[in-house]
Amino acid sequence: DWTPDAFIETTVAELKQQIGKEKVILGLSGGVDSSVAAMLLHKAIGEQLHCIFVNNGLLRKNEFSQVLEQYQGMGLNVKGVDASARFLEALKGESDPETKRKIIGRVFIEVFDDESHQVENATWLAQGTIYPDRIESVSASGGPSAVIKSHHNVGGLPDYMKLKIVEPLQLLFKDEVRRVGKNLDMAPEILGRHPFPGPGLGIRILGDITAEKVRILQEVDAIFIEGLKKNGLYDKVWQAGAMLLPVNSVGVMGDERTYEKCVALRAVESTDGMTADWVNLPYEFLQKVSNDIINKVKGVNRVVYDISSKPPATIEWE
Ligand code: XMP
Repeated sequence: DWTPDAFIETTVAELKQQIGKEKVILGLSGGVDSSVAAMLLHKAIGEQLHCIFVNNGLLRKNEFSQVLEQYQGMGLNVKGVDASARFLEALKGESDPETKRKIIGRVFIEVFDDESHQVENATWLAQGTIYPDRIESVSASGGPSAVIKSHHNVGGLPDYMKLKIVEPLQLLFKDEVRRVGKNLDMAPEILGRHPFPGPGLGIRILGDITAEKVRILQEVDAIFIEGLKKNGLYDKVWQAGAMLLPVNSVGVMGDERTYEKCVALRAVESTDGMTADWVNLPYEFLQKVSNDIINKVKGVNRVVYDISSKPPATIEWE
Protein backbone atom coordinates (compact mmCIF):
# COMPACT_ATOMS: atom_id res chain seq x y z
CA ASP A 1 0.00 0.00 0.00
CA TRP A 2 1.13 3.52 -0.84
CA THR A 3 1.84 5.71 2.17
CA PRO A 4 3.26 9.25 2.22
CA ASP A 5 6.00 8.29 4.70
CA ALA A 6 7.22 5.36 2.62
CA PHE A 7 7.10 7.54 -0.49
CA ILE A 8 9.15 10.25 1.21
CA GLU A 9 11.73 7.79 2.47
CA THR A 10 12.32 6.03 -0.85
CA THR A 11 12.14 9.22 -2.92
CA VAL A 12 14.64 11.06 -0.74
CA ALA A 13 17.03 8.09 -0.89
CA GLU A 14 16.65 7.88 -4.68
CA LEU A 15 17.18 11.61 -5.14
CA LYS A 16 20.37 11.49 -3.04
CA GLN A 17 21.68 8.64 -5.12
CA GLN A 18 20.65 10.14 -8.47
CA ILE A 19 21.94 13.66 -7.84
CA GLY A 20 24.99 13.01 -5.70
CA LYS A 21 26.99 16.22 -5.27
CA GLU A 22 25.49 18.01 -8.29
CA LYS A 23 23.34 21.15 -8.31
CA VAL A 24 19.65 21.38 -9.13
CA ILE A 25 17.56 24.38 -10.24
CA LEU A 26 13.81 24.51 -9.60
CA GLY A 27 11.20 27.10 -10.54
CA LEU A 28 8.74 27.65 -7.70
CA SER A 29 5.25 28.86 -8.56
CA GLY A 30 3.75 29.25 -5.10
CA GLY A 31 1.53 26.28 -5.81
CA VAL A 32 1.36 22.92 -4.07
CA ASP A 33 3.24 20.80 -6.61
CA SER A 34 6.41 22.82 -7.05
CA SER A 35 6.53 23.49 -3.29
CA VAL A 36 6.32 19.80 -2.37
CA ALA A 37 8.87 18.89 -5.05
CA ALA A 38 11.20 21.52 -3.59
CA MET A 39 10.78 20.21 -0.03
CA LEU A 40 11.58 16.65 -1.08
CA LEU A 41 14.70 17.81 -2.89
CA HIS A 42 15.66 20.02 0.03
CA LYS A 43 15.43 17.02 2.33
CA ALA A 44 17.60 15.01 -0.04
CA ILE A 45 20.27 17.51 -1.11
CA GLY A 46 19.85 20.66 1.05
CA GLU A 47 21.77 23.66 -0.26
CA GLN A 48 22.54 21.99 -3.59
CA LEU A 49 18.96 22.91 -4.51
CA HIS A 50 18.59 26.41 -5.97
CA CYS A 51 14.99 27.63 -6.25
CA ILE A 52 13.84 30.54 -8.37
CA PHE A 53 10.53 32.32 -7.76
CA VAL A 54 9.55 34.80 -10.46
CA ASN A 55 7.14 37.68 -9.95
CA ASN A 56 5.45 38.13 -13.33
CA GLY A 57 3.50 41.12 -12.01
CA LEU A 58 0.29 39.13 -12.39
CA LEU A 59 0.25 37.43 -9.01
CA ARG A 60 -2.32 38.08 -6.31
CA LYS A 61 -1.96 41.08 -4.00
CA ASN A 62 1.18 40.73 -1.81
CA GLU A 63 1.61 37.16 -3.01
CA PHE A 64 5.21 37.58 -4.13
CA SER A 65 6.54 38.79 -0.78
CA GLN A 66 4.33 36.53 1.32
CA VAL A 67 5.15 33.36 -0.58
CA LEU A 68 8.84 34.23 -0.71
CA GLU A 69 8.88 34.66 3.06
CA GLN A 70 7.05 31.40 3.52
CA TYR A 71 9.61 29.57 1.39
CA GLN A 72 12.50 31.13 3.26
CA GLY A 73 10.85 30.07 6.51
CA MET A 74 10.86 26.50 5.20
CA GLY A 75 14.64 26.67 4.91
CA LEU A 76 14.65 26.67 1.11
CA ASN A 77 17.49 28.23 -0.80
CA VAL A 78 15.24 30.51 -2.89
CA LYS A 79 15.84 33.59 -4.97
CA GLY A 80 12.91 35.91 -5.68
CA VAL A 81 13.12 37.68 -9.02
CA ASP A 82 10.81 40.63 -9.57
CA ALA A 83 10.33 40.78 -13.33
CA SER A 84 6.93 42.56 -13.22
CA ALA A 85 8.03 45.46 -15.39
CA ARG A 86 9.45 43.16 -18.05
CA PHE A 87 6.19 41.20 -18.31
CA LEU A 88 3.98 44.30 -18.39
CA GLU A 89 6.13 45.86 -21.07
CA ALA A 90 5.96 42.72 -23.22
CA LEU A 91 2.17 42.54 -22.80
CA LYS A 92 1.50 46.19 -23.64
CA GLY A 93 -1.49 46.64 -25.96
CA GLU A 94 -2.08 42.90 -26.42
CA SER A 95 -5.62 41.68 -25.88
CA ASP A 96 -5.80 38.25 -27.51
CA PRO A 97 -5.94 35.58 -24.77
CA GLU A 98 -3.72 33.02 -26.46
CA THR A 99 -1.18 35.65 -27.49
CA LYS A 100 -1.09 36.93 -23.91
CA ARG A 101 -0.44 33.37 -22.69
CA LYS A 102 2.37 32.95 -25.23
CA ILE A 103 3.99 36.23 -24.25
CA ILE A 104 3.84 35.39 -20.54
CA GLY A 105 5.30 31.94 -21.25
CA ARG A 106 8.08 33.36 -23.41
CA VAL A 107 9.10 36.07 -20.94
CA PHE A 108 9.03 33.52 -18.14
CA ILE A 109 11.48 31.37 -20.08
CA GLU A 110 13.75 34.35 -20.76
CA VAL A 111 13.79 35.35 -17.09
CA PHE A 112 14.26 31.79 -15.91
CA ASP A 113 17.06 31.25 -18.40
CA ASP A 114 18.87 34.41 -17.24
CA GLU A 115 18.51 33.35 -13.61
CA SER A 116 19.62 29.79 -14.20
CA HIS A 117 22.93 31.16 -15.51
CA GLN A 118 23.52 32.68 -12.08
CA VAL A 119 23.67 29.20 -10.60
CA GLU A 120 27.08 27.92 -11.63
CA ASN A 121 27.57 24.30 -12.58
CA ALA A 122 23.94 23.28 -12.26
CA THR A 123 23.32 20.00 -14.05
CA TRP A 124 19.69 19.26 -13.14
CA LEU A 125 16.34 20.97 -13.65
CA ALA A 126 13.66 19.84 -11.20
CA GLN A 127 9.97 20.13 -12.03
CA GLY A 128 6.83 19.64 -9.96
CA THR A 129 5.08 17.73 -12.75
CA ILE A 130 2.44 15.35 -11.40
CA TYR A 131 0.81 12.36 -13.07
CA PRO A 132 -2.27 14.11 -14.52
CA ASP A 133 0.00 16.74 -16.14
CA ARG A 134 1.15 14.03 -18.50
CA ILE A 135 -2.36 13.25 -19.64
CA GLU A 136 -3.99 16.66 -19.73
CA SER A 137 -2.37 19.89 -20.65
CA VAL A 138 -4.30 22.08 -18.27
CA SER A 139 -1.20 24.05 -17.39
CA ALA A 140 -0.81 25.02 -21.00
CA SER A 141 1.69 27.76 -20.41
CA GLY A 142 3.14 30.28 -18.07
CA GLY A 143 4.14 28.18 -15.09
CA PRO A 144 7.46 26.58 -14.28
CA SER A 145 6.19 23.03 -14.51
CA ALA A 146 4.71 23.79 -17.89
CA VAL A 147 7.86 25.20 -19.36
CA ILE A 148 9.23 22.05 -20.91
CA LYS A 149 5.90 20.73 -22.11
CA SER A 150 4.79 23.70 -24.11
CA HIS A 151 8.06 24.87 -25.55
CA HIS A 152 10.00 21.87 -26.73
CA ASN A 153 9.18 22.61 -30.35
CA VAL A 154 10.54 26.11 -30.33
CA GLY A 155 13.85 26.60 -32.09
CA GLY A 156 16.84 27.82 -30.07
CA LEU A 157 16.25 26.03 -26.80
CA PRO A 158 17.04 27.98 -23.64
CA ASP A 159 20.25 26.80 -22.01
CA TYR A 160 18.62 25.48 -18.88
CA MET A 161 16.75 22.99 -21.02
CA LYS A 162 20.02 21.23 -21.71
CA LEU A 163 19.91 20.15 -18.09
CA LYS A 164 18.91 16.68 -16.95
CA ILE A 165 15.32 16.56 -15.72
CA VAL A 166 14.21 15.30 -12.32
CA GLU A 167 10.49 15.05 -11.51
CA PRO A 168 9.99 13.50 -8.08
CA LEU A 169 6.16 13.75 -8.20
CA GLN A 170 5.63 12.34 -11.66
CA LEU A 171 3.65 9.31 -10.50
CA LEU A 172 1.46 11.10 -7.95
CA PHE A 173 -2.05 12.51 -8.02
CA LYS A 174 -2.89 15.83 -6.39
CA ASP A 175 -4.33 14.37 -3.19
CA GLU A 176 -1.19 12.26 -2.76
CA VAL A 177 0.99 15.34 -3.27
CA ARG A 178 -0.97 17.07 -0.48
CA ARG A 179 -0.52 14.07 1.84
CA VAL A 180 3.21 14.04 1.15
CA GLY A 181 3.37 17.78 1.88
CA LYS A 182 1.48 17.30 5.12
CA ASN A 183 3.91 14.62 6.27
CA LEU A 184 6.76 16.97 5.40
CA ASP A 185 5.18 19.42 7.89
CA MET A 186 4.39 21.98 5.25
CA ALA A 187 2.06 24.85 6.18
CA PRO A 188 -1.66 24.25 5.56
CA GLU A 189 -1.76 27.60 3.71
CA ILE A 190 0.52 26.14 1.06
CA LEU A 191 -1.12 22.73 0.88
CA GLY A 192 -4.66 24.08 0.76
CA ARG A 193 -3.96 26.86 -1.71
CA HIS A 194 -6.46 27.10 -4.56
CA PRO A 195 -5.16 26.35 -8.06
CA PHE A 196 -4.02 29.52 -9.81
CA PRO A 197 -3.18 29.69 -13.51
CA GLY A 198 0.43 30.25 -14.57
CA PRO A 199 -0.50 33.41 -16.53
CA GLY A 200 -2.19 34.60 -13.33
CA LEU A 201 -4.27 37.76 -13.45
CA GLY A 202 -3.11 38.16 -17.05
CA ILE A 203 -5.99 35.97 -18.19
CA ARG A 204 -8.44 37.42 -15.66
CA ILE A 205 -8.07 40.92 -17.05
CA LEU A 206 -10.12 40.60 -20.20
CA GLY A 207 -8.52 42.54 -23.00
CA ASP A 208 -5.26 44.41 -22.70
CA ILE A 209 -3.28 44.58 -19.48
CA THR A 210 -2.08 47.72 -17.73
CA ALA A 211 -0.51 48.28 -14.32
CA GLU A 212 -3.66 50.12 -13.21
CA LYS A 213 -5.92 47.21 -14.19
CA VAL A 214 -3.65 44.81 -12.32
CA ARG A 215 -3.89 47.00 -9.23
CA ILE A 216 -7.69 47.13 -9.42
CA LEU A 217 -8.05 43.40 -9.89
CA GLN A 218 -5.57 42.61 -7.11
CA GLU A 219 -7.65 44.72 -4.69
CA VAL A 220 -10.93 43.12 -5.76
CA ASP A 221 -9.50 39.60 -5.65
CA ALA A 222 -7.97 40.18 -2.21
CA ILE A 223 -11.31 41.33 -0.74
CA PHE A 224 -13.07 38.27 -2.19
CA ILE A 225 -10.44 35.74 -1.10
CA GLU A 226 -10.01 37.26 2.37
CA GLY A 227 -13.78 37.22 2.73
CA LEU A 228 -13.92 33.53 1.84
CA LYS A 229 -11.21 32.82 4.42
CA LYS A 230 -12.82 34.89 7.18
CA ASN A 231 -16.14 33.16 6.66
CA GLY A 232 -14.77 29.63 6.62
CA LEU A 233 -15.65 29.23 2.94
CA TYR A 234 -12.17 29.10 1.39
CA ASP A 235 -11.62 25.38 1.99
CA LYS A 236 -15.10 24.52 0.73
CA VAL A 237 -14.29 25.99 -2.66
CA TRP A 238 -11.95 24.40 -5.21
CA GLN A 239 -10.97 27.63 -6.89
CA ALA A 240 -12.09 31.25 -6.69
CA GLY A 241 -11.12 34.57 -8.16
CA ALA A 242 -12.27 37.71 -9.88
CA MET A 243 -12.32 38.81 -13.51
CA LEU A 244 -11.95 42.39 -14.64
CA LEU A 245 -14.37 42.90 -17.51
CA PRO A 246 -13.68 45.16 -20.49
CA VAL A 247 -17.00 46.85 -19.79
CA ASN A 248 -17.81 50.15 -18.16
CA SER A 249 -21.27 50.76 -16.85
CA VAL A 250 -23.12 53.71 -15.47
CA GLY A 251 -23.43 54.28 -11.75
CA VAL A 252 -24.30 57.13 -9.40
CA MET A 253 -22.20 58.61 -6.65
CA GLY A 254 -23.85 61.48 -4.80
CA ASP A 255 -25.28 63.66 -7.55
CA GLU A 256 -22.83 62.47 -10.15
CA ARG A 257 -23.03 59.81 -12.78
CA THR A 258 -20.03 57.51 -12.89
CA TYR A 259 -18.88 55.34 -15.76
CA GLU A 260 -16.68 52.69 -14.24
CA LYS A 261 -15.50 49.10 -14.35
CA CYS A 262 -17.45 45.92 -13.73
CA VAL A 263 -15.93 42.84 -12.08
CA ALA A 264 -17.19 39.28 -12.06
CA LEU A 265 -16.60 36.97 -9.10
CA ARG A 266 -16.25 33.25 -9.70
CA ALA A 267 -16.10 30.34 -7.26
CA VAL A 268 -16.29 26.72 -8.34
CA GLU A 269 -16.38 23.23 -6.95
CA SER A 270 -14.41 20.64 -8.85
CA THR A 271 -12.14 17.64 -8.37
CA ASP A 272 -9.79 18.04 -11.29
CA GLY A 273 -10.74 21.26 -13.08
CA MET A 274 -12.08 19.33 -16.07
CA THR A 275 -15.66 19.88 -14.98
CA ALA A 276 -16.84 22.41 -12.41
CA ASP A 277 -19.98 23.71 -10.75
CA TRP A 278 -20.47 27.25 -9.55
CA VAL A 279 -20.71 27.45 -5.78
CA ASN A 280 -23.90 28.51 -4.08
CA LEU A 281 -22.27 31.11 -1.81
CA PRO A 282 -24.56 32.64 0.84
CA TYR A 283 -26.33 35.82 -0.33
CA GLU A 284 -25.27 37.67 2.83
CA PHE A 285 -21.67 36.87 2.03
CA LEU A 286 -21.97 38.05 -1.58
CA GLN A 287 -23.72 41.19 -0.40
CA LYS A 288 -20.94 42.04 2.04
CA VAL A 289 -18.15 41.31 -0.46
CA SER A 290 -19.87 43.33 -3.17
CA ASN A 291 -20.30 46.33 -0.84
CA ASP A 292 -16.69 46.11 0.29
CA ILE A 293 -15.42 45.99 -3.27
CA ILE A 294 -17.50 48.92 -4.46
CA ASN A 295 -16.71 51.02 -1.40
CA LYS A 296 -13.01 50.28 -1.27
CA VAL A 297 -11.80 49.78 -4.81
CA LYS A 298 -11.63 52.97 -6.78
CA GLY A 299 -12.65 52.45 -10.40
CA VAL A 300 -15.20 49.68 -9.82
CA ASN A 301 -18.93 50.42 -9.56
CA ARG A 302 -20.51 47.05 -10.33
CA VAL A 303 -20.01 43.45 -9.16
CA VAL A 304 -21.62 40.37 -10.70
CA TYR A 305 -21.43 36.70 -9.68
CA ASP A 306 -20.79 34.04 -12.32
CA ILE A 307 -23.42 31.26 -12.18
CA SER A 308 -22.15 29.19 -15.09
CA SER A 309 -20.90 25.64 -14.83
CA LYS A 310 -18.20 23.88 -16.83
CA PRO A 311 -18.91 22.67 -19.44
CA PRO A 312 -19.61 24.69 -21.38
CA ALA A 313 -18.28 27.72 -19.47
CA THR A 314 -14.60 27.34 -18.57
CA ILE A 315 -13.36 28.29 -15.12
CA GLU A 316 -11.31 31.17 -16.45
CA TRP A 317 -12.96 33.72 -18.73
CA GLU A 318 -10.08 33.69 -21.20
P1 XMP B 1 -10.42 26.35 -17.56
O1 XMP B 1 -10.49 27.84 -17.64
O2 XMP B 1 -9.83 25.75 -18.80
O3 XMP B 1 -9.37 26.05 -16.41
O4 XMP B 1 -11.70 25.71 -17.16
C1 XMP B 1 -9.11 24.78 -15.84
C2 XMP B 1 -8.00 24.95 -14.82
O5 XMP B 1 -6.79 25.30 -15.48
C3 XMP B 1 -6.33 26.57 -15.06
N1 XMP B 1 -5.83 27.26 -16.25
C4 XMP B 1 -4.53 27.44 -16.52
N2 XMP B 1 -3.44 27.06 -15.83
N3 XMP B 1 -2.08 28.06 -17.51
C5 XMP B 1 -2.20 27.41 -16.32
O6 XMP B 1 -1.18 27.10 -15.72
C6 XMP B 1 -3.14 28.45 -18.25
O7 XMP B 1 -2.99 29.04 -19.32
C7 XMP B 1 -4.42 28.11 -17.72
N4 XMP B 1 -5.67 28.33 -18.17
C8 XMP B 1 -6.53 27.81 -17.25
C9 XMP B 1 -7.52 27.23 -14.44
O8 XMP B 1 -7.15 28.22 -13.49
C10 XMP B 1 -8.25 26.07 -13.82
O9 XMP B 1 -7.66 25.69 -12.59
